[in-house]
Amino acid sequence: MDIKFIKFDVKGDERGSLIALEEYKNIPFQIKRVYFIFDTKSDVSRGYHAHKNLKQVLIPVKGSCKILLENYEETEEVLLSDQRCGLYIDALIWRVMYEFSDDCVLLVLASDYYNENDYIRNYDQFRYEIKQLITSGDNPT
Ligand code: TYD
Repeated sequence: MDIKFIKFDVKGDERGSLIALEEYKNIPFQIKRVYFIFDTKSDVSRGYHAHKNLKQVLIPVKGSCKILLENYEETEEVLLSDQRCGLYIDALIWRVMYEFSDDCVLLVLASDYYNENDYIRNYDQFRYEIKQLITSGDNPT
């Protein structure tokens, strides 16, 4: 799978480090929503959905977690553990997040407001929608 990591420039000096996130600069979309996931129990997995249109960048600002990504042809496990790297997730990618470290704070930048209608929460529906796209010739990449 074509996993897209965005490597951020770190502005560092003797006082410490700083990363700036800017829409259409190092974040490839207009940022309409920011949320963060924290205090997730280590034996819990979450996600289990894809989005019809939403694009996201996930940044483990503290700690680490794993994420399983699935597109129309394959699945891949990714470790999120570097706060200098954001994971870009396009639309129509099924994702499951798990193995959160106790201190994990996962920052998510999203291209749109929260909209339950944009969620595909049923795995069979996800596979169906992907198949529809492939057969219509509009190949998701
Ligand atoms: P949920 O989608 O279940 O989280 P995850 O994908 O990590 O498993 O979201 C948890 C709850 O938070 C659910 O009731 C929806 C709500 N929520 C919002 O109100 N706004 C948001 O921006 C997000 C991401 C979730």
